[in-house]
Amino acid sequence: MISSSSDPLLLRVARGEVAHRPPVWLMRQAGRYMKAYRDLRDKYPSFRERSEIPEVAIEISLQPWKVFQPDGVILFSDIVTPLPGLGIDMDIAEGKGPLIDPPIRTKEQVDNLKILEPEESLPFIRTILQSLSQEISNKSTLLGFVGAPWTLAAYAVEGKGSKTYSVIKNMAFSDPNLLHQLLSKLADAISTYACYQVDCGAQVLQLFDSWAGQLSPQDYDTFALPYQQKVFQQVRQKHPDTPLILLVSSSAGLLERMAQSGADIITIDWSVDMADARIRLGQDMKLQGNLDPGVLFASKKFIRDRIYDTVHKAGFGKHILNLGHGVFPNTPEENVEFFFETAKQLTMVEAV
Ligand code: CP3
Repeated sequence: MISSSSDPLLLRVARGEVAHRPPVWLMRQAGRYMKAYRDLRDKYPSFRERSEIPEVAIEISLQPWKVFQPDGVILFSDIVTPLPGLGIDMDIAEGKGPLIDPPIRTKEQVDNLKILEPEESLPFIRTILQSLSQEISNKSTLLGFVGAPWTLAAYAVEGKGSKTYSVIKNMAFSDPNLLHQLLSKLADAISTYACYQVDCGAQVLQLFDSWAGQLSPQDYDTFALPYQQKVFQQVRQKHPDTPLILLVSSSAGLLERMAQSGADIITIDWSVDMADARIRLGQDMKLQGNLDPGVLFASKKFIRDRIYDTVHKAGFGKHILNLGHGVFPNTPEENVEFFFETAKQLTMVEAV
């Protein structure tokens, strides 16, 4: 059945309806590869300003919408944005990512974490989402997002991004109760925050468990999956109609486990062929992805061929076209434009 309701395309496909083409958006579609973003960054050098001053965050979120008309518009923010509301100080350093000082490593610190009150600590999110919702007025789907407990705990405990995750793994393997206590508190806060985003206008939510692919499958089952499930369950209880997307980076060994999270849509990175993902997750699962972001440096013909290939392999009706991860900062803008144009001209007859 081809759907014809007035909801935007991405929302309809995320809910399981069949449409004439796959919806398309890009992770990190707002950001450094856009000149308009770099110009604003010169004016507002701190990431927290850019993401927490409503007018600036609104303008940045809308920059790709105005140029490319993607089927999804994502809130310009970061996964660590809610942490100060729990009493965890953070900043985001240019080229480095989140910095948390002091890192959270003791029972006393975990005991002292605050319960998140979004209306008090994140009021700018309401302004941003409500304005975006008005601005795009159902011509595109408004996406909200949150970080998953394991990935946020990794930042909180390590104090910054890490190659080895040795501090949090040491905690996981030698003091698991302390880590579980932290993960549990983060899961509650993230659920509250995710529900707040839906209350403020987000129509689809993506949960980023970016660093869960650093865990062995058995540790994923202990420290990541149960907390993804907890967040998804709590959000679903309040907002049963909001589609939920899960992303884990480097997840080739985890796809079947990701499908147990309760997500409606699983993001596939480019380490897995989309045809294999389709076989492993079955015909009914909705999949998102999975072009290599590096493809956007290639010729137009190459980009077009890879789009056709991915869409063909993902199959009719159960696919949101995207990269397997975020756009690289030095990607040529015209190639992003070509990616969107080509994707939006697809009809399933042509692609299959
Ligand atoms: O997709 C979008 O357009 C929404 C924007 C978005 C940002 N961060 C903006 C941002 C999203 C969805 C995120 C999520 C996020 N943040 C994740 C999960 C996604 C993933 O990459 O796996 C993670 C792990 C973070 C933590 C983080 N924040 C990192 C690793 C970095 C990059 C450091 C760097 O400079 O390369 C940040 C900073 C950040 N968040 C930038 C952007 C656009 C880059 C800084 C800038 O543009 O000034």
